[in-house]
Amino acid sequence: MSPEQLENRIGVVEGDITKQQVDAIVNAANTTLLGGGGVDGAIHRAAGPELLEECRRLGGCPTGQARITKGYRLPSKRVIHTVGPVWRDGHRGEDELLAGCYRSSLALAEQHGVKTIAFPSISTGAYGFPMERAAKIAVTEIKKILERKSSIEKVLLVCFGRNAFEVHQKAVREMVG
Ligand code: APR
Repeated sequence: MSPEQLENRIGVVEGDITKQQVDAIVNAANTTLLGGGGVDGAIHRAAGPELLEECRRLGGCPTGQARITKGYRLPSKRVIHTVGPVWRDGHRGEDELLAGCYRSSLALAEQHGVKTIAFPSISTGAYGFPMERAAKIAVTEIKKILERKSSIEKVLLVCFGRNAFEVHQKAVREMVG
């Protein structure tokens, strides 16, 4: 795949993930899957109470893995809930766990015929993961999946605020070359 083709399939946008018109949005959840603040809170508020009811039946999710539900009142048909690592010191396997979030979310998306998917910057809020480091991991994992003939057509990185947007744009530019 040419760098241009790849760049066309990874988009960076500034905004609110709950407003994205895509097949699936990814939630930065916790292991209980029972809601929280940040992205988690915003998604549950926008999706409505049925989302929590479905999440209750999932029985939680380990860090680095993902689960899929319906989107209910959200514009997106699906929500893929993934649990990012809490940042400690970078020597507790945080990078690999974060990479696992992107890998397992994209694998679930492919299994469910998702063509367009939006990610927030997982773990870079309450979980304290350094954003530049997280953005590089995100783009690296997404590139690996898209390069092997994935059925996914477009991945959006939805950034909250200008700084996050610039960090992720830079990560995509450096990765695409
Ligand atoms: N749309 C897009 N991005 C958002 C939104 C939104 N509506 N709200 C917050 N963000 C950004 C934050 O600015 C941050 O860069 O998403 C990123 C992830 O932040 P958090 O939501 O705090 O997620 P995380 O760091 O993974 O922590 C997860 O927080 O909300 C709880 O239940 C959740 O315990 C879990 C923990």
